[in-house]
Amino acid sequence: MKPGAKPDRFTARAHQEGFAARSVYKLEEIDRRCRVFRTGQRVLDLGAAPGSWTQWMVPRVGGKGAIVAVDLNPLKVKVPAYVQAMQFDVLAAPLDEFAKLGPFDVVVSDMAPHTSGVQDADAARSAELVDRAIDIADACLAPGGHFVAKIFQGAEFEAVRKRLRERYETVRVLKPEASRKESVEIYLVGLGRTVKAPTP
Ligand SMILES: C[S@@+](CC[C@H](N)C(=O)[O-])C[C@H]1O[C@@H](n2cnc3c(N)ncnc32)[C@H](O)[C@@H]1O
Repeated sequence: MKPGAKPDRFTARAHQEGFAARSVYKLEEIDRRCRVFRTGQRVLDLGAAPGSWTQWMVPRVGGKGAIVAVDLNPLKVKVPAYVQAMQFDVLAAPLDEFAKLGPFDVVVSDMAPHTSGVQDADAARSAELVDRAIDIADACLAPGGHFVAKIFQGAEFEAVRKRLRERYETVRVLKPEASRKESVEIYLVGLGRTVKAPTP
């Protein structure tokens, strides 16, 4: 939990249900509303630590699927053998490394920058992470695949949404109930990656 953030019913529920973070209920709601996940999928989880999204996806994709969980920090949860946890900086890793790990059916990114308190600067760094996640999905997401990413609302939001519209059949914007009202975060969902070449 972030310093200053108050525990609430989602925090209590995550604790009770053994999830590493309350963020899990954001992904659950996104899936309930957008139908992203299925058994047997291969998923790339960017910004995976401490690991609640990974934990939630494990039974969803099951042993016939696979999850690659990437973060600067290690996962704080136990995961089965079909989860590959990797620790590195997504902004620094070459895109062809992701191509080698793929193809994936879903790319999710809950990446968030360290916040400075300067809203415009934080939003710009969040947009940089989403732009990177879009580039990574370009390198390793199968045609028809789905994309989910957190972004802080700010000046870059429309440009990022436009990039997604160029790449996915349907683009949705969601503010899940578990996302704190005072938070500027929002989630972009791209459903059905199209194969047409995107504009750079
Ligand atoms: C809100 S947390 C993710 C929570 C996670 N989805 C969960 O449910 O447990 C954001 C994560 O993004 C990671 N992150 C931020 N920038 C990153 C980068 N450049 N490369 C890899 N991970 C990054 C942070 O280390 C942090 O663990």
